[in-house]
Amino acid sequence: MRRMKNLIGLVGLSMVVACGGAQTQSAEHGSAGGSEHASGSEHASGHAHPGHGGQGMHHDFSDVERFAAMFDDPERDEWQRPDEVVALLQLTPGAIVADLGAGTGYFESYLSSAVGDAGRVLALDVEPAMVAHMQTRFQDARLSNIEAGVVAGDDPGLEPDSVDRILIVDTWHHLDDRGAYAAKLAQALRPGGFVLVVDFTQESPHGPPVARRLLATAVAQELQAGGLAARVIEDESLPYQYVVRADKTAAP
Ligand SMILES: C[S@@+](CC[C@H](N)C(=O)[O-])C[C@H]1O[C@@H](n2cnc3c(N)ncnc32)[C@H](O)[C@@H]1O
Repeated sequence: MRRMKNLIGLVGLSMVVACGGAQTQSAEHGSAGGSEHASGSEHASGHAHPGHGGQGMHHDFSDVERFAAMFDDPERDEWQRPDEVVALLQLTPGAIVADLGAGTGYFESYLSSAVGDAGRVLALDVEPAMVAHMQTRFQDARLSNIEAGVVAGDDPGLEPDSVDRILIVDTWHHLDDRGAYAAKLAQALRPGGFVLVVDFTQESPHGPPVARRLLATAVAQELQAGGLAARVIEDESLPYQYVVRADKTAAP
C-alpha cells in the first residue's frame, strides 16, 4: 500500500457493500438493449451525463450487483479478449501494475497471474462499493498479490516512479481534465513504464452513447498532453475497442 498515496481510504472487508440496490441506471458492459454497453442507452436513462464542467461522462457505478452481471458476463470474454489485453502489457514476474477504474475486478485474475507472487496488482476505482466488492472477491479467490483501493476522481493516487504499467479499460471517457490526469500517470510510471488505454470504437455495439466515445487519436493526444509518448496500437484483434499505448519518456 506504500505505493498508493492519497487514497481516499481502503475500504475494509467488513464494510457493508452496496450491492443489489434498486437503481435502474444503464451501464457500459451489457449487450444491446439495456445497458451502457448498449449504445445510447445512458442518454435515455437520465443517469449518465457529461462531466459537470469537465470532459468526462459521469456515471453512477454504485449498483455493484447489476454491473457485475454485465462486466463479468462470461460472454464478454469473447470480445474483450483479456488474455490479449494483458499480453499487450508485457508484464513480467515481479512487476507492479495498476488497473485504474478496475470496476468489479474483471481483469485482476489475469494481471495477478502475469505478475506472479513477487508482483503487485493495484485495483483502483473511484466507487467505494466497487472496491469493497473487489476486496471480497480477491479474498475469496485467495489472490493475495492484489490490493484494491478507492481513489479520487482526479488523481490516480500513485506515488512517483512507483508502477511499471497502468491499465485503463472502458474508463478513460469517464475522466475529467484528461491531459492533467495523464501527467499524473506519467509521474507515477517508473522509467520504461507505459499506460494502456482500451476503450470503445465508434462502431462498437457495446459502450457508452456514441457521442460520448472518444476517438483513439484523441485519446493519444490527451496522453501526449500529459507528457507521454502515445500511439495507437494497430496489431491487436479486439473487435469493439481500440488500444492506445503511452510510454513514459526520458526526463529532459
Ligand atoms: C465501465 S467500468 C469499467 C470497469 C473495468 N475496467 C472493466 O473493464 O471491467 C468504469 C469504471 O471506472 C470507474 N471510474 C469512473 N471514473 C473514475 C475515475 N475518475 N477514477 C477511477 N475510476 C473511475 C467506475 O467507478 C467504474 O467502476
